[in-house]
Amino acid sequence: TPVRLEDYRPTDYLIDTVSLDVRLHATATVVRAELGIRPNPAGVAGAALRLDGDELELLSITLDGLPLAPTAYEISATGLTVLSPPQRPFRLTMETRINPTANTKLMGLYRSSGVYCTQCEAEGFRRITYFLDRPDVMAVYTTRIEADAAEAPVLLGNGDPVESGTLPNGRHFAVWRDPHPKPCYLFALVGGKLGRIGGEFTTMSGRKVELGIYVEPGKEARAGYALDALIRSMRWDETAFGCEYDLDVFNIVAVSDFNMGAMENKGLNIFNDKYVLASPETATDADYAAIEAIIAHEYFHNWTGNRITCRDWFQLCLKEGLTVFRDQEFSSDERSRPVKRIADVRTLRAQQFAEDSGPLAHPVRPSAYREINNFYTATVYEKGAEVIRMLKALLGATTFKAGMDLYLQRCDGAAATIEDFLACFAQASGRDLSQFSLWYRQAGTPSVAVRTAYDAAARTLRLDFAQSTPPTPGQNDKEPVVIPIRLGVVSPQGEVSPLRTVTGETLDDGLFVLERTADSLTLADIPPHSVPSLLRGFSAPVRLEQELQPEDLLTLFSRDADPFNRWQAAQRYAMRLMVRAVEALRSQSAPVFDVAFAQALGELLLGVDDHAFAAQVMALPSEADVARELGRDIDPDAVLHARKALRAFVGSQIGDTLAATYERLANKGPYSPDAASAGRRALRNATLDLLAAGDPARGIPLAQAQFAAADNMTDQIGALAILAQHPGDAREDALEAFGARFAGDPLVLDKWFGLQAAIPEAATLDRVRRLMSHPAFSLANPNRARALVGAFAMANMSQFHRADGAGYAFLADIVLQLDGANPQLAARLLGAFRTWRSLEHTRRAKAETELRRIAARPDLSPDVSDIVTRSLA
Ligand code: ARG
Ligand code: ZN
Repeated sequence: TPVRLEDYRPTDYLIDTVSLDVRLHATATVVRAELGIRPNPAGVAGAALRLDGDELELLSITLDGLPLAPTAYEISATGLTVLSPPQRPFRLTMETRINPTANTKLMGLYRSSGVYCTQCEAEGFRRITYFLDRPDVMAVYTTRIEADAAEAPVLLGNGDPVESGTLPNGRHFAVWRDPHPKPCYLFALVGGKLGRIGGEFTTMSGRKVELGIYVEPGKEARAGYALDALIRSMRWDETAFGCEYDLDVFNIVAVSDFNMGAMENKGLNIFNDKYVLASPETATDADYAAIEAIIAHEYFHNWTGNRITCRDWFQLCLKEGLTVFRDQEFSSDERSRPVKRIADVRTLRAQQFAEDSGPLAHPVRPSAYREINNFYTATVYEKGAEVIRMLKALLGATTFKAGMDLYLQRCDGAAATIEDFLACFAQASGRDLSQFSLWYRQAGTPSVAVRTAYDAAARTLRLDFAQSTPPTPGQNDKEPVVIPIRLGVVSPQGEVSPLRTVTGETLDDGLFVLERTADSLTLADIPPHSVPSLLRGFSAPVRLEQELQPEDLLTLFSRDADPFNRWQAAQRYAMRLMVRAVEALRSQSAPVFDVAFAQALGELLLGVDDHAFAAQVMALPSEADVARELGRDIDPDAVLHARKALRAFVGSQIGDTLAATYERLANKGPYSPDAASAGRRALRNATLDLLAAGDPARGIPLAQAQFAAADNMTDQIGALAILAQHPGDAREDALEAFGARFAGDPLVLDKWFGLQAAIPEAATLDRVRRLMSHPAFSLANPNRARALVGAFAMANMSQFHRADGAGYAFLADIVLQLDGANPQLAARLLGAFRTWRSLEHTRRAKAETELRRIAARPDLSPDVSDIVTRSLA
């Protein structure tokens, strides 16, 4: 039975203080928890106290120091109930035993490469002790950690360290105290042999904070960039949002087995090591950018998530959407704003649009769930961030800031809701945000259709907008949403500015707000042959349906003042060519492409100043992008070949320009991960990639040379990725050399697993099967599983969706195999089926067979059972 938003009610008891004593042991850790409990004035007086628990062994239980009679409480597989608790404040003390080594779910307390660590969000704390495991129960925590000093010389907890010392029998302990009340999902502890790099940060009010990053001993040098990113994040949050750090210590620990990216535990962030460790030889520019973004994201949670937390898990986007928005803004300020926007929209469309148009579609704030872990989705995170971005666009930067200030002040210390959040912005702006709040409740990606009519005599341009949102599971009828459309008009002379309507109003900031199902706008004094540039900067997460002819697209591509729409114009042009090529291929004829398109790309390269931007243009829409554009009856082989053909066409048309650009962008000094250098490398790799696509005889030797000479991972993997697309000895030799060189470095091998899993050839499935028995591979490690199996299922459309269904059967087997050990990971991988209904009928039938086979398995985890049920619904 699902949990429903409308059923929320406060707990009958509150827990104000938690005192934990954790005696770490590999297979028998004993946790003593002393909880300071009192009846909740907002709850039901006299109610039983039902605490959550999962895989706990209760050793003892006392109430105010007296043993609780066995008849006074009940234990089940999901919790412990104290039948008639005192109706006054009392102390409940429980000892539980847990086995961290057997914890393969990686939720609660577990061991990763011998390091004890925890993951409590969303519902992992109940696997450590019996508790009211929900975010609206906030307590002050003191944690004593005891361990064998040789096994776990480093002991870390939330908050500030207060005491430590040695004990008999080679054991030692540390006590940590976190003065800030917090929900239990923010609890963390770590114990193990770890190396450390340290730093210092002085906050704007003068507090000196000691920073520590803990990694596997020997890898300290690879943590330097993360520390630098942390310091920049702390400074930026003060400047941009006035948010200051509030403890004397801030620690980050990198672990090698982690289900997600990272976790914002108070004062003790725990990270997937993939998002901490970087060196020029082992990490790509994209890795550096991801580390910077995730370090910032988790740090920013200290205010948006920790100081202000969520009332219940339906409000997950309250912290996640807002924090993603904040980390996107940080990266935009640190790097290039337009390029960051393009990259984010690429992710949004690839992940969220795909989710939103399939059986797993749900609102940014879901109203029911069976398994909360399945709602850490692109919709909650990425669309959640888009909603905040729209709010800022609608209110303007100054009013948005006033709303944020009010929120940070008013809700500090609270477990809040989306309503609380929006109320701050309604108050700051004096506006009614009730229609806007639909973005949180209504699933599906709205479409905005635009028709334009130019009146040459009157020099007016009329734009007719119509919006609609398709039905999604459980939501058939949709209401119109508030859509901020940033727009401009590009005339042959350049930007038309300022924009005025026929009624004499100026369009502030070029913003038109579409609130009704249909609306129109007539612009005055528009020169002939002008092209409207709509949805600039991707001002709303919608699909824009605008008829643009190739010449209009070329106008926008070369002259639009908005870099996002210049990029978008090139993508649209490429998409148009690929969609036609798919149609041609499916009717057994040869695709035909426009020389003008290739020439436009060539011209961009000749005058290029922003390398990172140009690299984004050269990366043509992916196979998945084309599939989404087609929407239904998809033949992945036709999509693959259409895209290949266009790339080969462009590569051969502008081969000389590509080669010259490649030469011009050669490395001139030692590697530096800064954005400008990364942009140059990205463009250099993109030109080589297209060159090799158009003329392998020219491109492959260059890629081989780059692969052999590379002094950094970006160049090396860039070359290897190009070689991987061209069957033959060059590819196999390079793959073998890379595999041998990095045999001892699993994070680097993940790139190698991923590249091979993404090769769009029929032999790849066998290659993936073979790689599963590679000594460095382990299905139990989430990074390995995602790198190989995840890449095959999510980054190799033609092979996962093989016509014979073998790709589906393979993934189904893995999901079933993994489900017992790590249901969260199994459910994530199963998400690859989310587009199954959009395929042509043979594949659709094969996918359904496999989904039904999974569904028929008894004892599925709630995680997998939920995804498979919704996928089939
Ligand atoms: N709050 C974390 C973040 O956004 C994600 C943790 C989610 N973990 C989970 N098991 N669902 O950074
Ligand atoms: Zn987050």
